Amino acid sequence: MQAELPVELADEIRRRVFGEPGFMRITQVVRRGGEVFRVSLRPVEIRGEMKYQGEMFDEGRTKVKNFDLDAAKNGLEEMIAQNGVRELHLITASGDLHVRVTKKGKVLQSRSGKLARQLDETPAHDRTKNVPLNTFHSATLLRVLGISDADGKIKASMRGKYDQVNAFLRVIDETLPDDPVTRAARRRGRDGDSGETADSPPEVNIVDCGCGRAYLTLAALMYLTDVRNFTVRVCGIDRRHDVISDARRMAADLDLGERAVFIEGDIDTAELPFEPDLVVSLYACDTATDAAIARAVEWKSHYLLCVPCCQHELHRAIKTGSPMQGVLRHGILRERLADLLTDTFRAQLLRIMGYRVQVMEFVSRDATARNILLRAESTVKKGLGAAISEYLELRDFWQVKPWLETRLGEPLAKLLDICEHQ
Ligand SMILES: C[S@@+](CC[C@H](N)C(=O)[O-])C[C@H]1O[C@@H](n2cnc3c(N)ncnc32)[C@H](O)[C@@H]1O
Repeated sequence: MQAELPVELADEIRRRVFGEPGFMRITQVVRRGGEVFRVSLRPVEIRGEMKYQGEMFDEGRTKVKNFDLDAAKNGLEEMIAQNGVRELHLITASGDLHVRVTKKGKVLQSRSGKLARQLDETPAHDRTKNVPLNTFHSATLLRVLGISDADGKIKASMRGKYDQVNAFLRVIDETLPDDPVTRAARRRGRDGDSGETADSPPEVNIVDCGCGRAYLTLAALMYLTDVRNFTVRVCGIDRRHDVISDARRMAADLDLGERAVFIEGDIDTAELPFEPDLVVSLYACDTATDAAIARAVEWKSHYLLCVPCCQHELHRAIKTGSPMQGVLRHGILRERLADLLTDTFRAQLLRIMGYRVQVMEFVSRDATARNILLRAESTVKKGLGAAISEYLELRDFWQVKPWLETRLGEPLAKLLDICEHQ
């Protein structure tokens, strides 16, 4: 069986990958004994440096590694030197080259002309939708996260998470201006020693509280790096061992190094590797959302975005017999009212702690009833009288003490005290 590529064909591949402009991607799929091994290489720019990103799919796992030119050339030679039945697909600006080596050792070639393929690796059936995960080369990320299958199709079971991550990325994108207020930028403004110059990309540190399997954490890192050109570090916190080890494995498969760190522990006690500029939290259960809010305030994070999940605390605490008895009698209405009140108290308390807050719809109500997002930016003065008196009036009307008030402790109590005793 003839398995080697003809010399002229191998030379054409080398030339089109490294010898002329317009190289986009080369992928080789080898099928052996029912197993599929896929390797691909594409050019990427990482912090202004030209690199080559290799993606290996083996035994159901996708791994990514970035190479310099010499290592990438060695990788291509290994691809060319493969034996046996295989398919190779080269995409360049001048067109596509398909090579198929059959069982009988025949080498079949076909070429197509110039194609416009800005988003060549976007999952086929999602290509037309204008969502954040379609605006960069997200195919590898989605495969590593297990959101898409080996062919790049979004799995039916992951469609909800895919939509949530897109919706959250859109809000992150709208929240962070091109020159976001970050610790590094503030240091630069103050004493110019942050290492970040006016021309260098903004450094943004993100903490994801209750990160689970890090779908949002890793998507935010990749999106802000690739699309916004920020220098991003993320830290995910979760108390579950299994999700943190999955998140670490996926970050390793994506070759993210120090840029993605995961802490197995409680949001309330986790020690961060950096000072955050943005705290995010997606469906952190019950009072874990309050813990995320409280820590964002304590960490002095400039931005906070959270989508709360189930909320039990006020549901139990709201007293029956109030003028709202007619609402509270019905379980579903009581639950919705408790949810609304909890988020209202959260927004009010954030205002008191110096944040400008917006409460907005997250995903469509058809998708889930948990569709409220709190967006907060630390831009107002702490302890504004109007914010405090509104909060106290509402709290006293319902005769409850929201858990977030207790959690924010002394610094908040002092502010409330001033107003209560005026
Ligand atoms: C519903 S999951 C959401 C996970 C992820 N944010 C997502 O949307 O895919 C909530 C996660 O919060 C974590 N969690 C809840 N309370 C926590 C706490 N106090 N500290 C750390 N993690 C917590 C849980 O272990 C769980 O993984």
